[in-house]
Amino acid sequence: MNTKNLFKRQSIYHGLATLCLAFVISNSYGQEGPAASLKETFKDDFLIGTAPNGRQLSGNNEAEQQLIISQFNAVTPENLMKSQSLQPEWGRYEFDQVDRFIAYASEHNMKVNGHTLIWHSQLPRFMRHMEDIDSVRQFFEGHIKTVAGRYDGKVDSWDVVNEALNEDGTLRNSVFLRALGDDYIVEAFKLAQEASPQSKLYYNDYNIEQPKKRAGALRIVKKIQEAGVRIDGVGIQGHWHLGRVPMEYIEQSIQAFAALGVDVMFTELDISVLPNAAGGNTAEISQTSGYSERLNPYPDGLPDSVQQALAQDYEDLFRLFLTYRDNVSRVTFWGAHDGQTWLNNWPIRRRTNYPLLFDRNLAPKPAFYRVIATKSDE
Ligand code: G3I
Repeated sequence: MNTKNLFKRQSIYHGLATLCLAFVISNSYGQEGPAASLKETFKDDFLIGTAPNGRQLSGNNEAEQQLIISQFNAVTPENLMKSQSLQPEWGRYEFDQVDRFIAYASEHNMKVNGHTLIWHSQLPRFMRHMEDIDSVRQFFEGHIKTVAGRYDGKVDSWDVVNEALNEDGTLRNSVFLRALGDDYIVEAFKLAQEASPQSKLYYNDYNIEQPKKRAGALRIVKKIQEAGVRIDGVGIQGHWHLGRVPMEYIEQSIQAFAALGVDVMFTELDISVLPNAAGGNTAEISQTSGYSERLNPYPDGLPDSVQQALAQDYEDLFRLFLTYRDNVSRVTFWGAHDGQTWLNNWPIRRRTNYPLLFDRNLAPKPAFYRVIATKSDE
């Protein structure tokens, strides 16, 4: 086929695809016309990310891949770069899937955030009951040097340490704190800086917009800076609940972290619409509950009133992010669409949640349009 015919054929396909998308959109939520793109809309403001799982970028799901590459310019692998996946046995690393993930992201101009070097959870099996100080230190140093060294500059940034704080702002009683003492976070950043001088270094946690936990995160940032070690930013995860997004605390937190000269990111954004049996604003994955129909109220679809409330929460958030665009460098959703969010299985397995901007058919929801509109309303 000559180039002209190929181009014509591609145009027809493109036209058909756009028509289909418009059809889906207008049938789902009464919106007309093809959807806009998040990454284009906010290109002068901040990166827009998502957190693909291994399957999504593996080449078997064309529609999800199209959604991801058309809407997002940053990716955080949801699970692939956790120590459990990267170092399944002591000293034996498995890099293949991550190498492919990074190559795919680079081909599609998506920045990669490496999640995560040091986290007390999702540790390799051999670390589960490890308390011996020398062995913990060996794992700690070896893992950071090997992983951060291999992907220096290939990842734009690292979540160097993840979720090191309790809700009251004290340090979590993790294997790393017990074996290595209070300075382990500074040490992790120092090792990451040495191994990965070309990548940015972040501290990442949930609920750090809440005043007490925020104070703990501010102490961590200051301690790293006072030690003369580099920290480039703080990730506020942003696992929130419908109607209870803590807007004031979020604004105060952006200001407080920015005042220390570090970037602020929203790194795992989603808004659960389901009752939280565990209570509170938490992403503590050790807290789970049993299933009951009462706790899964929307198995067959989201009522319009809830859909609109979700759209309102997202609109308010993006208005705030835009106000602070000089400080906010990235907004990453924890998932691409409602069909694959972790919130369908946590804290209760097999529920039907609706926390993201795209639905189970990959169609943009009213929240998507309200987020896009925050930009044209400026
Ligand atoms: O891969 C295994 C599979 O082989 C097995 O059959 C299945 C049975 O349960 O489990 C699968 O592993 C699951 C893994 O996700 C991959 O799907 C784990 O059980 C499950 O616990 C794990 O959950 C992840 C969780 O972190 C714990 O690592 C979620 O997908 C992921 O969204 C979530 O992400 C965390 C961030 O890393 C840190 N912040 C909080 C956030 C939400 O908890």
